[in-house]
Amino acid sequence: NWNMKNFIADQVELIKRQVGDRKVLLALSGGVDSSVVAALLIKAIGKQLVCVHVNHGLMRKGESESVVEVFKNQLDANLVYVDATERFLTKLAGVADPEEKRKIIGAEFIRVFEEEARKLEGIDFLGQGTIYPDIVESGTKTAKMVKSHHNVGGLPEDLQFELVEPVRQLFKDEVRACGTELGLPDDMVYRQPFPGPGLGVRCLGAITRDRLEAVRESDAILREEFAAAGLDKKVWQYFTVVPDFKSVGVRDNARSFEYPVILRAINTVDAMTATIEEIDWPVLQKITHRILNEVKNVNRVCYDLSPKPCATIEWE
Ligand code: XMP
Repeated sequence: NWNMKNFIADQVELIKRQVGDRKVLLALSGGVDSSVVAALLIKAIGKQLVCVHVNHGLMRKGESESVVEVFKNQLDANLVYVDATERFLTKLAGVADPEEKRKIIGAEFIRVFEEEARKLEGIDFLGQGTIYPDIVESGTKTAKMVKSHHNVGGLPEDLQFELVEPVRQLFKDEVRACGTELGLPDDMVYRQPFPGPGLGVRCLGAITRDRLEAVRESDAILREEFAAAGLDKKVWQYFTVVPDFKSVGVRDNARSFEYPVILRAINTVDAMTATIEEIDWPVLQKITHRILNEVKNVNRVCYDLSPKPCATIEWE
């Protein structure tokens, strides 16, 4: 009979049989799928798994730290942590076009990962968090996609590995159940979707450090207050956006000229269409108050009421 315990036991056996005493490399973003695959591989082959976490400097507050805490400290994984923030921000400097930004982030991600892979000796396998919808929807979904997405598919030919894809038969809710069964924390297993290019597409136009910081800090406040109000379990995706223009305000009796923060909170089934969450006024007021008082360079908070279509979920 099929249950999660048996699934895990079966996969552990299959992985052991496939990999033997050889090594597997995994790009561990901290997303649900790669985290669950990492936990499963650690259970099966322990230190024969080498996880590489590339921090592109566009992660949410505390996210890379939590990957290190869970996988290195708690699960004792073989984890290579790469802080590539400077490389990414240098490559992105002055680039304002959203698709151009995506291309740069995707290409740079593969380059950093490739460099790390070359430093490691004797790797034969690449672990991937492919899940069932990725397989059945490739072809149809790709054609409908308005924005380009990236993963680790573009490695050069001399770095081609045999794939290990232990959750390829699972739907998203089953992947989460698998993660829970393997002991991963709730905030990792029930993490909201986060785009590959990260905060890079929420810091609109050409990325600057001051606005990136404003996106990261305001996003952290939004997440904290959503969790406090129980909205984190209810709303599909919620985040903040900082545009590349300023508006006039007044602070300490003097004129200010600072950035706005835009709040977004949407519900959807498949991300193809989306509706807006009706947030209680006191929650919005609390978030607004905190952002205006705690986030540097911000003097205005707006709530985005646009459904998809006509808007997309992200601003870029
Ligand atoms: P849009 O903005 O197209 O977003 O309505 C639909 C869903 O896709 C996510 N998204 C991305 N995910 N790389 C990703 O991995 C990307 O470049 C990207 N762009 C958008 C978005 O967060 C939403 O969940």
